[in-house]
Amino acid sequence: MNTSNSKKLYIKAKKILIGGVNSPVRSFKDVGGAPLFIEKANQSLIYDVDGNEYIDYVNSWGALILGHTNKQVTNSLQKYILKGTSFGATNELEINLAELIVNAFPSIEMVRFVNSGTEAITSAINLAKEYTKKEKIIKFHGGYHGSIYQFNKEIILLPYNDFNSVEKTFKKFKNKIACVIIEPIAGNMGVIPTHKDFLIKLREITEKTGVILIFDEIISGFRLTYGGFQSIYNIYPDITCLGKIIGGGLPIGAYCGKEAIMKTVSPLGSLHQAGTFSGNPLSMISGITTLKQLDKNVYENLDHKSKKLQTELEKSAFKNNIKIIINRYGSMLSIFFTNLDKIENYFDVQKCNGKLYSKFFWKMLDQGIYFPPNPFQTFFMSTAHTEKDIKNTISASDIILNNF
Ligand SMILES: Cc1ncc(COP(=O)(O)O)c(C=O)c1O
Repeated sequence: MNTSNSKKLYIKAKKILIGGVNSPVRSFKDVGGAPLFIEKANQSLIYDVDGNEYIDYVNSWGALILGHTNKQVTNSLQKYILKGTSFGATNELEINLAELIVNAFPSIEMVRFVNSGTEAITSAINLAKEYTKKEKIIKFHGGYHGSIYQFNKEIILLPYNDFNSVEKTFKKFKNKIACVIIEPIAGNMGVIPTHKDFLIKLREITEKTGVILIFDEIISGFRLTYGGFQSIYNIYPDITCLGKIIGGGLPIGAYCGKEAIMKTVSPLGSLHQAGTFSGNPLSMISGITTLKQLDKNVYENLDHKSKKLQTELEKSAFKNNIKIIINRYGSMLSIFFTNLDKIENYFDVQKCNGKLYSKFFWKMLDQGIYFPPNPFQTFFMSTAHTEKDIKNTISASDIILNNF
């Protein structure tokens, strides 16, 4: 495959953008090699600047549940862009998107829109600290919550799915913990759902001690069901962070929860939080038009296609004596090259063979299949993926694993 134009642009970009990119995973550093420069996309496909076509399983890191250039989203954007791109004032679309979210999440009464997942998480943590007047933040190994390194000194890092360590930490730091933050289904160390009994106990201990429980559903919000992973387990946090899908491919984030907590934020309360572009009308209409297309059939269809991809990839690995584990929940999948029997936490993930994944990644890319350029990230299926896309993906992997 000829990628000479991408290579030329990368040399140029490195002189002026940090590492040639605006977000590190895009640099392909984790799989070794130069990144592709993408020129355009359509439905399930993306095209690089050399004219190569790829079936896209990154889907803007899960934001594009309807794939690229969804007709209804594009039509809404074309209509609304003529009305202005940013007002710095309140707009009715903000109420409409917030209503869709509140109706989908029993734990949410109020919403504050921001511009990214990172901003949602940062604001949610600040809110928890202000509300409880406490400092410590518990997070879990392998959980990714955006660029929140300003909290490093206050963070206590614990193993995922291990309640004993949570209990011990609650004893040790009694009356000092502001919040616990967790992806109820991890998507940034591959796909790893929490164990239900772990999450139940986490809810119980936080409720009993007045510690704020924050669910980071920036990936899982509207990804697996119409609502959050919280509705699948019926375990509800105090604050939910959303992003990605609720913006339908435009920049967005939101932190949300019960009124009693949310009213701590300005203009009602003492915690100042503001944003020039927050509630941007184009992000709002893109999100509204996306959420309105999601229903039970969509989720069933995504599950069906993803299951097919999983089972066929497993078969092809098995046939060729290559040991892999695929973790999947609905339309989120991840492939681990490993001899382990299961992958349940970050320590398991670290034992997997990232080099083999990288080899697989490059060979698949060469066949026109764009998997995440990182061994431990999630593949996302969209409604735009066709049966033919899946068939082509499976045939490519069959050939590659046969000569691995
Ligand atoms: C679970 C999770 N939380 C937070 C973020 C940060 O969101 P953003 O990249 O929009 O800042 C991400 C981004 O991938 C994420 O996957």
